[in-house]
Amino acid sequence: MTQQLMTIQEPSINELPGVGPATAEKLAAGGFDTVMGIAVATPGELTDASGVSESAARKMIQAARQMLDMGFVSGEEVLEKRKSVNKISVGSASFDKLMGGGFETGSITECFGEFGSGKTQIGHILAVSIQKEFPGSYAVYIDTENTFRPERIMQLAEGFGIDPQEALRHIKVAKAYNSDHQMLLAEKVEGLIKNDGLDVKLVVVDSLTSHFRAEYVGRGTLAERQQKLNKHMHVLGKLADMYNMCVFVTNQVMAKPDAFFGDPTQAIGGHIVAHASAFRIYLRKGRKSSRVAKLIDAPNLPDGECAFFVRAEGLEDIDL
Ligand code: GTP
Ligand code: MG
Repeated sequence: MTQQLMTIQEPSINELPGVGPATAEKLAAGGFDTVMGIAVATPGELTDASGVSESAARKMIQAARQMLDMGFVSGEEVLEKRKSVNKISVGSASFDKLMGGGFETGSITECFGEFGSGKTQIGHILAVSIQKEFPGSYAVYIDTENTFRPERIMQLAEGFGIDPQEALRHIKVAKAYNSDHQMLLAEKVEGLIKNDGLDVKLVVVDSLTSHFRAEYVGRGTLAERQQKLNKHMHVLGKLADMYNMCVFVTNQVMAKPDAFFGDPTQAIGGHIVAHASAFRIYLRKGRKSSRVAKLIDAPNLPDGECAFFVRAEGLEDIDL
C-alpha cells in the first residue's frame, strides 16, 4: 500500500534539469517516464531515447537519484518494508510451510524442474490464489509455450471458492512469440498498472527460458543471451519491488553431461536467473504420481522438501 502511494507521489520527470516538454515526451516514449526509471538508467540509454548529450544524461540521472534519496536505508526501514510483504498460499499446507507461509510478494520465485513436474500447474494455482489473497487484483500470465488453459483456471477457481468467470476476467494473458516479445511484455506490465489502473499483484512468466534457449544456440551466443536474460530479470525484479507483487518464473532443466554425482540436472540461465530469484524451488516427480518440491537458496528459510498431489481442485498434501 505504502509503496503504491510512494509511486503516485513520485516527482515528475519534468522537474529534472534539462528536461523540457519535448525531451520529456521523447524520454517517455522510450519508456523513461518516471524519475525512478531515469535514476536507474544508464547515460547511453537516455541518450538513445531522447537525443540529449551524454553529459546532460549524466546530470539527469544524478538529479533523479538525489530527488529519490536513493542509497542506504536503515535496517529498521528494511524491516518496515518487509512488513508489507504478503504470502500467497498455494493451497497445500506443507508447501506453504516450506515457503515460510506462502509465496512472497516483493520478490521473484523461480521454479525449475523437468517436463511434467508441475511448474505450469503452480503458475495456474498462483493466478487463482492471488485473487483470493487480494480480492479484485489481477494476475498477468506471460505464456511462452502456449500452455495457459482457461479451463484449468476455472477448475482451480472452484477449488479455491472463487467465481470461475471472475477469476478468468482477472487474468491478463499474453502469448510471447519470441524472447524480445517476452521482454517487451514484461515491460508493459507497468502500463497496466499506471495507465489502465489495474491492481496487478502477480506476474507469471512460463517459461522464462524456453525462447532464450531456442534462439541462442551455440557457444558464441551465450554472453548475449545472458545479458538479455539479465535485463529481463531486472525488469521483473523492479516490478516485484516497486509494486509489492509476486513474480513467478518457471525454468526447465538441462542434463549436465559432466555431472556424475548428485542431481544430474541444472537450471537453464545459470547464475543470472538464480541470483535474481529470492526463492528457488526444484520440482520433481515423486512416487505414485506425486510431486516433490525442494526449496533451495531462500534468504531466511531452511532448505527442505514437501510432497503433494496435483488434483483437479488444486494441490493435496501427502506425508513424505
Ligand atoms: P513442462 O512445461 O513440460 O516443462 O512441464 P511442467 O513442469 O510445466 O508440468 P505441468 O505443470 O504442465 O504438469 C503437468 C502435470 O500436472 C500432469 O502430468 C498432471 O499430472 C498434472 N495435471 C495437469 N492438469 C491437471 C488436471 O487438470 N488435473 C489433475 N489432477 N492433474 C493435472
Ligand atoms: Mg509447463
